[in-house]
This record gives sequence, structure tokens and C-alpha cells, in this order.
Amino acid sequence: MRSLLTRRSFMKKTSAGLTGAALAAVATGSPHANAAGNSNKLALLGGTPVRAKPFDFTWPIFDENEEKALLKALRSRNWCCLKGSAVYDFEKEFAKAMGVRHCVLSNGGTTALSASLHCLGVGPGDEVITTPNTFIATINVICNAHALPVFVDIDPDTGSIDANLIEDAITEHTKVILPVHLSGFPADIETIMAVAEKHKIPVIEDACQSVFAEVNGKKVGTFGTTGCISFQEWKSLVCGEGGAILGNDEELMRRCAAFVNNGRDPMNTRRGYPFPGSNHRMTEFQAAVLTEQFRRFKKQDKVRQKNGKYVERELARIPGLRPRKAYSEDTRFTYVTFEMDYDKQQFNDVPASRFAEALRAEGVPARGGERTYSRGCHKEGMLEEHLNSRAFAASFSKARLKMYRESLRLPIIDNVRLGGKEKLSIEGKIVLLGSKNNIDDIVEAFAKVAKNADKLI
Ligand SMILES: Cc1ncc(COP(=O)(O)O)c(C=O)c1O
Repeated sequence: MRSLLTRRSFMKKTSAGLTGAALAAVATGSPHANAAGNSNKLALLGGTPVRAKPFDFTWPIFDENEEKALLKALRSRNWCCLKGSAVYDFEKEFAKAMGVRHCVLSNGGTTALSASLHCLGVGPGDEVITTPNTFIATINVICNAHALPVFVDIDPDTGSIDANLIEDAITEHTKVILPVHLSGFPADIETIMAVAEKHKIPVIEDACQSVFAEVNGKKVGTFGTTGCISFQEWKSLVCGEGGAILGNDEELMRRCAAFVNNGRDPMNTRRGYPFPGSNHRMTEFQAAVLTEQFRRFKKQDKVRQKNGKYVERELARIPGLRPRKAYSEDTRFTYVTFEMDYDKQQFNDVPASRFAEALRAEGVPARGGERTYSRGCHKEGMLEEHLNSRAFAASFSKARLKMYRESLRLPIIDNVRLGGKEKLSIEGKIVLLGSKNNIDDIVEAFAKVAKNADKLI
């Protein structure tokens, strides 16, 4: 092996075990990894980058199949699902693929969550236990139902809700527990379900970012009373905007179907409007694209799995990089965001953000830092607006709102030192679809930066 940059040809000729050993050698600066000219110098410091060409960030991906499906929907003149069949056909297909009896499509993950909350009877005066580390939509739907989002602190190892703290947050007002599976990484859903079952509290899983992630062979979004998925364009299965509610309770799902369709009973649409609802329907255009994208997604998901596991395994050989903690041995990450825990002590105290900067200079689009939503939704201004609203004043006593405000201090997420476990991440959804060469470039760039971390101080 002449140099780091000839490693790829070396890898092709060796076993997987040797490949790992070679990588470890490079990472730890063993004599086998000889410096060779400018190629071993970090690109950030003027060396030659591992990748000369940037990664292709085209997303979403489509071809003539989506074009044909869209045209077919257009020409059918059945643009609304009440006339067409694409929405209702996909509901059946998706329910089967996810392993639940029922699926109701909606025009977004937000409205899927909102329908679930309303149909479970969440309203003024209620409390919903959830996580501060999520996209704001999770919290908006709770507040819009005039209920209080009760924030449970996070597990610093993962950024997910700390399932062991949930029981202490349960009160007589708790109506729902709403955990979130972020970026293809399942929350500790089995522990959450055990607590919820003990207290007979329904669970709505926000699996908006994590379609096809699994725990012990079961897909997230199918553990709870309902589970919600988003098909918004930045997710891994997409149609621009769209959402799904998943569940097995026939009566509840009937109400969810009614809720997104102005209260019409899906069992008998001639019955008038017997249920509360609004119009959150998906159009036939969205469903036509989604149906084609689902075919594509199933293939992409397999490629991401293979590449994600490979990169994870190879990078784990570098002291200081660790795969994310899983809550059960049999956990299927979907690597929507590819993440590695980063222990800066192993890298001369170089912060993850600086390490990522060096990776970007090598041509690998990495990010380094803390959790995804590190500020925490409990600190967002919208919350105080809700607490001061007429609806909240009518639903909660002043004393309860005072106590609630005081509860918004969360030691882990609020404390950068405790909650600020650092990580390195890559847009796995796109990057992990790359060729073997692209994937090896990622491994090579990490190894190169790790080996030269002392020069980043
Ligand atoms: C965790 C989470 N929940 C809910 C949503 C809302 O989904 P949508 O954008 O489809 O309404 C999103 C979307 O970004 C999300 O990431």
C-alpha cells in the first residue's frame, strides 16, 4: 500500500477484514499508512481533496414513470380522490407494506398527527407527553388542539425522548404520549409502549422522518395506537406534500378518515357529515407520484441499508467514532441522516464542527455538532403565544400555566455540556445511494481527517 489514496485499489484486492485493518491502520497513523506528497495533507490546509467532484445532490429523483403517472392522473380528469382511485389504492398498498390493517392518507404529516390527536379526543385542558427535540410540527398540532405539550428530557446518547422519564411526567390530564423517531433512528419505542400500556394511555408515533425503520422486525409507526408518516419532499419517500396515518383500531381509523374528509363517514359517504373534520385530503396527483416513488423507495432503501451498514462498520474502526446507540439489538436504522457519535477527546479536542469542515474540504458533505433540533421546541416563541391566548386562558387555570412555565427547564437538552453529545452526520438519504467509489470516498475522507486531526487545532 503506497499511500492513503491508493487504498481503494488495495481494498479491491483484499478481504473485508483486511480492509478494516487497513483503515484502522490509516486512522491510527500506523507505519503502513505512509504520507505521500500533497494527497495526505488535509485539503482544508492546502492538500489534494479525496474527491475532486462534489456529490450529486439531486433530490427528489424521478423518471418517465412518475411523468407518465402524473399525466395519467391529469388526463383522467379525476384530480380529487373522491373521484379517482390512486389515493385509496395506495392506502391499501401502504397499509400492507407497513404491516397494519388501516392507512389513511392526508395532505401532510402535520395533518396526520392533527387527525390522530383530534380523533383520540385530545382537547382543551389536556396534556400530551412529547419530546423537545423534534421538528416544530409535532408541537404545533398539540398546541393547536389547545392542549399542553409536556416535554420530557432527552437521552443524551441519542437525542430521543428518555423513555425512563415518561412515567414521572404522567398526570391525571395526560391524554396521549407522542414520541418521535428522528431521521430514521427509532426512539425507545418498546419501553414507551410498556409505560403507556401500564397506564392505559394511547400512543401516537411521529414516524414522519423514519418510514421503514424497524425495532425487532416491526416498523416504527405501527407500535402505537396510531403512527404518522410524512411524504414531504425532504423525506425519504416523497410526493411533494403528503402524510399517512397508520393503525389497527377500525373505529378510530374510520374517524381519522372522516377527519381528513370534512367529517364524511368512509363506511357510508351518503350519511352526511356525522363526524368532526376538515379537508386534509391528498390529491390524485400526489398519490400518483407517491405510488411510483414507493417502488423507487423500496429499492433505494435496500441500497441505503447496505451502504449505511458498510460505512458505519468501517468508520467504527476509527477510535472516537461510534455508531448511534440502538435501543434493541435488532434495530433497523434507515440512515435518512447518517450519524456517528464523535468523541472529541480522541481527536485532540477538535470540535465535531471543525472535523466536519475538514471533511467538506475533502469533498464529503458532512455536518458536525449536536442534536438535530438542538435549541429544543420548549424554547420556541410560539409556545408563549399559545400560553397567552384566549383559548389557553379558558382551558387552564393561571396556577397550572405558571407551573407549566416552570417545568420548561430540562437539564439535559438545556445544558450543552450534558446534552451536547457531538456527532458527525451526512445526508444519508442521498449520499448513501452513491456508487461503491463514492461510498469508499466517504470512508477514505474520514480516515484522512482522523489521522490528521491534530493539525486542525
Ligand atoms: C418529526 C416531524 N414531524 C412532523 C412533520 C410534519 O410533516 P409534514 O411536513 O408532512 O406536514 C415533520 C416534517 O418535517 C417532521 O420532521
